Amino acid sequence: MTETPPPPSRARAEIDLGALRANVRALRARVAPHVRVMAVVKADAYGHGAVRCARAALDAGASWLGTATPQEALALRAAGITDVPVLCWLWTPGDPWDAGIEAGLDMAVSGRWALDEVTAAARATGRTARIQLKADTGLGRNGCQPADWPALVAEALKAEKDGLVKVTGLWSHFACADEPGHPSIAAQLDVFRSMVEYAEKAGVDPEVRHIANSPATLTLPEAHFDLVRPGIAMYGVSPAPELGTPAELGLRPVMSLKAGVALVKEVPAGHGVSYGHHYVTGAETTLGLIPVGYADGVPRHASGRGPVLVDGRVRTVAGRVAMDQFVVDLGGDRPEPGTEAVLFGSGEHGEPTAQDWAEAADTIAYEIVTRIGARVPRVYLGE
Ligand SMILES: Cc1ncc(COP(=O)(O)O)c(C=O)c1O
Repeated sequence: MTETPPPPSRARAEIDLGALRANVRALRARVAPHVRVMAVVKADAYGHGAVRCARAALDAGASWLGTATPQEALALRAAGITDVPVLCWLWTPGDPWDAGIEAGLDMAVSGRWALDEVTAAARATGRTARIQLKADTGLGRNGCQPADWPALVAEALKAEKDGLVKVTGLWSHFACADEPGHPSIAAQLDVFRSMVEYAEKAGVDPEVRHIANSPATLTLPEAHFDLVRPGIAMYGVSPAPELGTPAELGLRPVMSLKAGVALVKEVPAGHGVSYGHHYVTGAETTLGLIPVGYADGVPRHASGRGPVLVDGRVRTVAGRVAMDQFVVDLGGDRPEPGTEAVLFGSGEHGEPTAQDWAEAADTIAYEIVTRIGARVPRVYLGE
């Protein structure tokens, strides 16, 4: 980190772009030199801020960007990121294929309706669309089923011959890459290899073949092919605790969520705290008001469990998380109002991590960082 911002007034999410760049370099070091890194910046870069994170990832050697929706990809182009390929994979009928073609996006096609829409847009714009055919190798979500693959490949090749599309990629996505040794991993790789082989024999000449998300990037070299698509690892969060902590994986958490204590007050024993009075003070004590709540992405499900570092000690959410605030029992301590409360960060200074909140809320750390709301300003460090 190169700067230390002032204490938070209400709340802020600090985004350490130096850590993000280091994570991209660490991921690049794990893949063979010819393997490209696509920085996945969908969902506003998992809550970290898409444009800044995309730029930092590109600085550190990523050479593709990935988004879910076309709107996210077009926003990157509108922000001036015009000279790198951007793949976007979650299309619905009526989406702006024409704008995607004009913006030079790589557009995922998982089925016949999408190929029909993209070829119609190519005809209308008079330009060739870059498309990537997505195979469902076993995830059972988006992607083309093996039984439908020959027809999709044939139609795509016909459109390529007519100059309407260029098939730039063949790709897929894992179901259980975060569970090393899960039998579906080898099965999906087999299906992927055979679907790629089929398409290439039929005449597809892709620039990139890819299937690896963060856990596969970290644990499965045979899945790297021409490109890897890390998301969560780039943000310094372990895809699953079983794979190791961020430090064990050579990663540094990028986001820290901080708030300024809004009120400290003394209360007697037996005092109910927050909606529903699910916490009642056991003795005379002090309470601290932390001015963030579920509107800011603090999970209500972590009521009574979420950890927060305040005044040198990790405290626990007392009672319910409300929309805008929650309370911690300070046990008689009296920090000044405005004192920094750290909900999560790197963990290096005794603060909880996103993984700690995931466990408190019975979810995954992906959801903790991604859901931090728009009301929380992002403060960028290390730009
Ligand atoms: C198609 C696709 N590729 C890559 C990723 C990145 O996954 P992860 O964050 O586990 O690296 C995602 C995210 O879910 C995805 O949907």
